[in-house]
Amino acid sequence: MKAIVCNEYGSLDDLVLQDTDEPVPADHELLIRVLAAGVNFPDGLLVKGQYQAKPQIPFIPGMELCGEVVSSGSGVSGFKTGDRLISSSVSYGAFAERVALPAASAIKIPKSIKPAEASNLLVAHGTAHHALKQRGNLQAGENLVVLGAAGGTGLAAVQIGKAMGANVIAAASSEEKLALARANGADATINYSTEAIKDAIRQHTDGKGADLIYDPVGGELFDSSVRAMARNGRYLVIGFASGTIPKFPVNLALVKEFSLVGVFWGTFTRKEPAVFAENMQELLDWHQQGRVSVAIDRVFDLKDTPDALKYVMSRQVKGKVAISVS
Ligand SMILES: NC(=O)c1ccc[n+]([C@@H]2O[C@H](COP(=O)([O-])OP(=O)(O)OC[C@H]3O[C@@H](n4cnc5c(N)ncnc54)[C@H](OP(=O)(O)O)[C@@H]3O)[C@@H](O)[C@H]2O)c1
Repeated sequence: MKAIVCNEYGSLDDLVLQDTDEPVPADHELLIRVLAAGVNFPDGLLVKGQYQAKPQIPFIPGMELCGEVVSSGSGVSGFKTGDRLISSSVSYGAFAERVALPAASAIKIPKSIKPAEASNLLVAHGTAHHALKQRGNLQAGENLVVLGAAGGTGLAAVQIGKAMGANVIAAASSEEKLALARANGADATINYSTEAIKDAIRQHTDGKGADLIYDPVGGELFDSSVRAMARNGRYLVIGFASGTIPKFPVNLALVKEFSLVGVFWGTFTRKEPAVFAENMQELLDWHQQGRVSVAIDRVFDLKDTPDALKYVMSRQVKGKVAISVS
C-alpha cells in the first residue's frame, strides 16, 4: 500500500510517499480502507520531533481518519465489511491507504457525512467540546473568548460555545478569519493584529472580563488576555501554536480569583472512555442537527501531505484541511 512515511524527525519536506506492507489486524482490531485523513497541528509537531509523544522511526503520521471496514481480527463484533467509521485512536498511521486500529476506538457514522469532513470531526471538535464542557464548565449566557478562532480547534470552539448557549467573542489575526468566525456563530469579534486584546475583551463584556478564555495560541496573546479575566473565570490552556509557551504570573489568579485550567484531549479519551463516548454522541447529534460542522478549507492528495502540513502550521489554514486517500 502507499503511505506517507517519516524516516527521520525534522523537516516536513523529508516525508516521503512510499510502498509499505499492508497492516494485518490483530485480535480485536479492524483493517480499515482510509477514505480521508484529518490534518492537525500536532501531526506536524510529531514529524518535527516537537510533540509529547515520539514514535519509533520509521512511522506513518496522521492521527484521525474516516474509512471503511475491510476485515477484522478475531474477537471483533458489531462491525461488518463496508461499515463507515471515524477513529483517532491511531496517534499516527492515518496518512496511508490502509490502517489497523482497535475496534473499540471506531465510531460508526452515517455515509451522508462526506469523508473529508468526517475525518476531521474528532481531534479539533473533540478537544473544543471536552475543553468547554468538562474542563471549562461553560454555562449558557457566559462570555466565552476564543483565541485563534479561525484555526482548527478555535473554529470548533466557536461553534460548540454557541451550541452551549455562550456569548461567543472570537479573536483572530485578520478580517478574513474573523468573517469565517462570524459565519460559524461568533457574536462579536476582535482583530488582535489591530486591537489591544485586553481592552477589547473588557469592551465586549461590559467591563466584566471573560468568564472563559479558550487559548490554542499561547505566547504574547496569553500575556495580554490573561489580564482580562472575570472573577471566577476559567482560562483554558489548549496549545501553543505561536511556538512560545508563556509564563503565568500566579498573583493574577489570586487577585482576580480565576483559574488556569489545562486541557489534554488525548488523555481524556483514554482515562474516561465512557464520558468520551457521551461527548461524541452529543457532537454527532449536533452535527446531524446542523449546529456544528467542519469547515473544510482545502483537500490535498496523499502525495501532497507535506504541503498540507505546512499549510496548517504556517498560519494559513482557515478551519480544517483533509487528505483525500482513496
Ligand atoms: N490540548 C489538546 O488536547 C490539544 C488538541 C489539539 C490541538 N492542540 C494544540 O492546539 C494548538 C492549535 O491547534 P489547531 O488545530 O487549532 O491549529 P491551527 O488550525 O493551525 O490554528 C492555530 C491558530 O493559532 C494562531 N497562530 C498564532 N501564531 C501562529 C503561528 N506562529 N503559527 C501558526 N498558528 C499561529 C493562528 O490564528 P491567527 O492567525 O488568527 O492568530 C491559527 O489559526 C496546537 O499547539 C496543537 O498542538 C491541543
